[in-house]
Amino acid sequence: MSRKFLIAGNWKMNLTPDESTSLVEEINAVAGNQTSVQVCVCPPFTSLPVVSEKVEQTEVLLGAQNMHAQPSGAYTGEISAEMLRSLYVSHVILGHSERRQYCGETNGSINQKILAAIHANLKPIYCIGETLDERDSGKTMDVLSSQVREGLENFPSSALDLLVIAYEPVWAIGTGKTATDEMAQEAHLGIRKVLSEMFGDSASSSIRILYGGSMKPENAAGLLAQPDVDGGLIGGASLSAKPFCDIVEAAISSL
Ligand code: PGA
Repeated sequence: MSRKFLIAGNWKMNLTPDESTSLVEEINAVAGNQTSVQVCVCPPFTSLPVVSEKVEQTEVLLGAQNMHAQPSGAYTGEISAEMLRSLYVSHVILGHSERRQYCGETNGSINQKILAAIHANLKPIYCIGETLDERDSGKTMDVLSSQVREGLENFPSSALDLLVIAYEPVWAIGTGKTATDEMAQEAHLGIRKVLSEMFGDSASSSIRILYGGSMKPENAAGLLAQPDVDGGLIGGASLSAKPFCDIVEAAISSL
């Protein structure tokens, strides 16, 4: 089992193309040539072309934050997998809790996107996580299990090397509250057990599970030291180069 750390920045609805260019240049300067851990930036759609050009000659990977399940057609305002591929996008965040909350995405609709992504050879970063109510009522593992099973329905075993999961407890996103190292490890191990029931031990032990939810330089080392935490999906702390690159350094130091 060797799972390379993946540190991914989710820029959300922030940064113009000019601002994105500055940020990716700063990230490139620090982390652009190292190969010890994988680094991925996920700008908004409007910044993908400029960031794509900037990362082309580096080791930094490019991700999108969403896509439509259909390959083309009358879906005003939507973006297809092929459009992302044409900009050399390799990863796509799918099922983020903000899209579940504000855009009505469900395990079922996200499943369609995940299958469309792998069909186009894009690597889905599939986000799952429980709300505070669900945690407080002891339902965390039930929720995570349904999200994994329903979101990954009909996922072909042959494409498992493309799959990345991000465990993002909803109560920890953008709140400054982070899961403790032990809480994260417990959830990641539980998710890996479900993956193992679905796809077998060997496949499940090679799928990367990222932690997301107020990850920052101060807590990254502890979280990344957990045996089933294989990287981070970072929102707020990915909007400036220093904290983001410090998290990358923390990942490299924990190797
Ligand atoms: P946060 O966001 O790091 O700002 O909590 C993480 C995410 O939503 O992916």
